[in-house]
Formats: sequence, C-alpha cells, structure tokens
Amino acid sequence: MVSKGPLLRLIAALNRRRMKLLTGIALVAYVASVWGNFVNMRSLQDNGDQKVENKIEEAIAPLREKIKDLEKSFTQKYPPVKFLSEKDRKRILITGGAGFVGSHLTDKLMMDGHEVTVVDNFFTGRKRNVEHWIGHENFELINHDVVEPLYIEVDQIYHLASPASPPNYMYNPIKTLKTNTIGTLNMLGLAKRVGARLLLASTSEVYGDPEVHPQNEDYWGHVNPIGPRACYDEGKRVAETMCYAYMKQEGVEVRVARIFNTFGPRMHMNDGRVVSNFILQALQGEPLTVYGPGTQTRAFQYVSDLVNGLVALMNSNVSSPVNLGNPEEHTILEFAQLIKKLVGSGSEIQFLSEAQDDPQKRKPDIRKAKLLLGWEPVVPLEEGLNKAIHYFRKELEYQANNQYIPKPKPARIKKGRTRHN
Ligand SMILES: NC(=O)c1ccc[n+]([C@@H]2O[C@H](COP(=O)([O-])OP(=O)(O)OC[C@H]3O[C@@H](n4cnc5c(N)ncnc54)[C@H](O)[C@@H]3O)[C@@H](O)[C@H]2O)c1
Repeated sequence: MVSKGPLLRLIAALNRRRMKLLTGIALVAYVASVWGNFVNMRSLQDNGDQKVENKIEEAIAPLREKIKDLEKSFTQKYPPVKFLSEKDRKRILITGGAGFVGSHLTDKLMMDGHEVTVVDNFFTGRKRNVEHWIGHENFELINHDVVEPLYIEVDQIYHLASPASPPNYMYNPIKTLKTNTIGTLNMLGLAKRVGARLLLASTSEVYGDPEVHPQNEDYWGHVNPIGPRACYDEGKRVAETMCYAYMKQEGVEVRVARIFNTFGPRMHMNDGRVVSNFILQALQGEPLTVYGPGTQTRAFQYVSDLVNGLVALMNSNVSSPVNLGNPEEHTILEFAQLIKKLVGSGSEIQFLSEAQDDPQKRKPDIRKAKLLLGWEPVVPLEEGLNKAIHYFRKELEYQANNQYIPKPKPARIKKGRTRHN
C-alpha cells in the first residue's frame, strides 16, 4: 500500500509547477498585451504628433512666405547705380517725377549716381512709375503739390509738374493754370533761396497754331489766349516769362526746354494723341481712326532721347529756350499702317471727316540743340514704337480684370486747333 503522503506531495508538486507555468504564461500574455497596447498607443501618438506637426506646418507656411518677402524687400535689387564722388554727386529735385517723362528722367539721374527727390501730387503720375527706387538710399518720394511752397536743399531742379496731355490739362483748367504759374513761382523761389539751377519743362505749345514751319526758338508763336488750350499754352508761356524774370532780377540760373511730342512706355492710356490712340485701337482690334485723308504730318521723339536732351541742357551753359523734339515727319496714315503692322493687328483703318483746323504740319527745328548741346534724337521710330506697344499690351493685360480701360477719344470738331497734336 502506497502511503498517501508522498502521492499527495507529488500531486501538490505537479500542481505548483502547473500553477507556476500558468502564472508564467499569464504573465507573458499580460506583458505581451501591455506591450501591444503600448506599441498601439505609441503609433497612435505618433499619428497624433504627425497631425499636429502638419497643422503647425500649415500655419507657419504663409509666415515663412511673408518672411521671405520681407527678406526680399530688404535685399531689393535696384537697377545698377554708378558711384559718384561727393563733389560730382548732385541733389536733384524733379517735380512731376512720377509722371511719364519725369519717371524716365528719375531713372537716368539715379543710374548716373545722383541723389533724386521726386515731388508729385499724383494727379496724372503714379507711384508705380518710380516704385523700383523706393527704399534706395539715393531716392526720396514726396507727395506734395507744387502750388504749395516747398523747403528742401537741392542743387538742381527739373520742374516738370504739370498735366501734359489735352484731356488731362483741360480737366481742370484753373488747376493747370495754378500749377504752371504759382507752382513755377514756388520752384523759382526755392531755386533762388538755395542757389539751385532750374530747368523748366516748357512745350512746343508755346508756338500755338504755328504760322512758320519748322518752328525755331525765335518764333513768338500764335496762341489763342482764351481757347480751351490756353490754360496750358499760356500757362507755359507765363512760366517761361517767370524764369527769365527770376534770371534777370534775382540771378537765378534757368534752362528752358521746349518739348515736342514724346512717346514711350509709361505714357498715359488716355493721352489722346495719335500714337497712343492707334496703339490702343490696334491692340483692342478696333478700327484705327484717321481724320481726313491722313496726309497731315506729325513728328514724335522717343522718351529716352528727350531725357538725354533735358540732362544735356541742364548741364550746359545755354540759358535761352531750346527745342527738344524729333524732326522726322511721318503722315498720320503712315503711323496708322506702321502701328497696325507692328502690333500684328487685323484692325481696319477708318477714315473720318477731317477735324477743323487740324494742323497740317508739326515739326521742330532742332539746329540749336544740335549746335549748342551736341544733341539729336537717335532712337529709330520702329524701335520706340515696339517698346511702347509692349508697354500698352502689358497695361491692358494688367487692367483686364474689372478695371476701366480708357478708350481713345475721337477728334473734337470745333473752332481752334484740334486733334492729332
Ligand atoms: N509728354 C509730352 O509729349 C510733352 C510735350 C511737351 C511738354 N511736356 C512737359 O513735360 C512735363 C512732363 O510731362 P509728361 O508727359 O510726363 O506728363 P505727366 O502728366 O505724365 O507728368 C506730369 C506729372 O506732374 C504731376 N503734377 C501735376 N500737377 C502737379 C502739382 N500741382 N504738383 C505736383 N505734381 C504735379 C503729375 O502727377 C505727373 O506725375 C510737363 O511739364 C509737360 O508740360 C511733355
């Protein structure tokens, strides 16, 4: 007989082992499940982290772009500027410097290494014309109306402030008169106070409806003092008178440029003159409107030629008026055909009845500028027109969306001088 004691002990031992094994298995299962949970939680957490990271990335992406823009604006690339020594560098004021001619003059003087202050009331000028200089250490832009006095220290003043195209100067004739009279007096007063030389941007319009062709500087002109253009024509004539009064009475150094028709990029869409009219019509597929048979002639200079002439005159010792223009004449019909070809436009040329008193000829005599300044226009007409066409095409694209595109105005038939000027 087997005693109960050892058997029970054996069973007990076996049970203990099983229990240990079971406990061990349970423990391993538990650890495995805890680890599994842990791994799951980690991956959930990783996913969460990833989401948060994505959200942060989304939020800071635009900030990054803004920082890049800011960095760009700090390291803005300006057109190349010459270095001028203190002695050669001038402080130059350009009134009307945000306009068509003024902005090109600003470019030239800045690139030549001078310090340029542009004063403009933005009546017809735009900040966009000079924005590429904003922030440059040699450049300053002042929003100011020349009808109010201005107190700054300068060596030279290019006085261009005045609306120039007929729709613009006829818009507010009294303001045009004030700008050309009070504005010019203010600038001459400034020139006197600081000992600066002043160049007046006068105009071929001082010759009015000329009775001599081509017009030289000795011609006194033929102006209707009460016509619709008188605010501009007479305004410029009296501005010239003021210059010579300040020269004779106060010893102010003056230069007077009689500027003839000029064209190029940054000219006004509603300039109203033949070049911009034809380019806009051709680009927009509208008929190019020619008044009369189109045999009347016009002469246009490209803006860079004018700018070179202005700078040459300012730095010359010629104090009497000088014509700056391109004497190369073309008929209106030639202009229409050439512009149509250069634009590659299918527009037709439409002949309308002749505008009354439309001048048959407009041509500068530039012998004085050639002789005394060694200046004459050099930019071929086609080259200039291509640049102007490129500019107008871009402007139309720029303004395409919901913006007003001024349409060329038709010739006005009335007494006195009219279109195609
Ligand atoms: N463009 C031409 O074919 C032409 C021909 C003859 C003369 N000019 C003369 O050249 C000058 C420049 O002409 P543009 O074609 O560049 O004209 P524009 O209209 O483009 O420029 C004239 C500038 O003067 C500014 N201005 C007008 N009144 C002002 C005031 N009261 N105070 C401050 N700024 C004022 C305008 O905002 C504009 O920026 C004008 O004096 C004009 O009479 C031009």
